[in-house]
Amino acid sequence: MLRIESLCVSYGDAAALTDVSLDVADGELLAVIGPNGAGKTTLVNAVAGLLPARAGTIRLAGENVTGLPPRALADRGLALIPEGRRLFTTMTVEENLDIGCYRPAARGHRAEGLARVYDMFPILAQRRRQIAGTLSGGQQQMVAIARALMARPRLLLIDEPSLGLAPIIIAQVFEIIAAIHKSGVSILLIEQNATRALAVARRGCVLDCGALVATGTPAELDARGDIRAAYLGGGH
Ligand SMILES: Nc1ncnc2c1ncn2[C@@H]1O[C@H](COP(=O)(O)OP(=O)(O)OP(=O)(O)O)[C@@H](O)[C@H]1O
Ligand SMILES: [Mg+2]
Repeated sequence: MLRIESLCVSYGDAAALTDVSLDVADGELLAVIGPNGAGKTTLVNAVAGLLPARAGTIRLAGENVTGLPPRALADRGLALIPEGRRLFTTMTVEENLDIGCYRPAARGHRAEGLARVYDMFPILAQRRRQIAGTLSGGQQQMVAIARALMARPRLLLIDEPSLGLAPIIIAQVFEIIAAIHKSGVSILLIEQNATRALAVARRGCVLDCGALVATGTPAELDARGDIRAAYLGGGH
């Protein structure tokens, strides 16, 4: 579904990603974990077309999509749930969901999409006319997830969904992510909460200082003492 080969991304002269290669197979949920400043957000933003690749290629379902703008990637089935949710906080829940299906390919499926996400998140159906910025953090994360689902993605990029949420809410968010994955959507999940992320993933990658330092199944990563000590300690 997604193949990243030797990706390099910089901010000005500062390299943020160096020679990163990874794959997300059709229907796979791949977790990318790593500490603050590792380059995780840079990675998903580059895949979503928000940052240019200095070198390397990004392929989506076999097609070289390197350098395509975000709207072209959205039309090819890619959706991003950005770090910090990025809701339109002065707009209602439903207005935020409408933004998820603004592309022509998704617009025709608005009613079906709303029915699906309201079924998945009954609280959002109740609060469809509420201003998004007045919701709790967990509810805002649900809006961000639902907005991405409105685009009917084949590949979902999720950047730190647990950020700033209480453990009980984090557990719910990860249940939702697992359910979306089960429905057939391929997922690249970025998390600092390694324990949670590796509990829902079949494979994980560790990113540090802009480079991949390990890739493997959760058991393989856990079996490496250096990786466990440096990266797998945290989480709830
Ligand atoms: N807009 C920017 N301009 C310059 N440098 C940036 C910019 N955004 C990020 N960086 C730098 O790039 C590196 C990678 O940042 P990035 O946000 O991708 O890390 P991250 O793994 O997502 O971290 P976090 O866990 O804090 O979200 C860091 O050194 C960061 O300071
Ligand atoms: Mg980040």
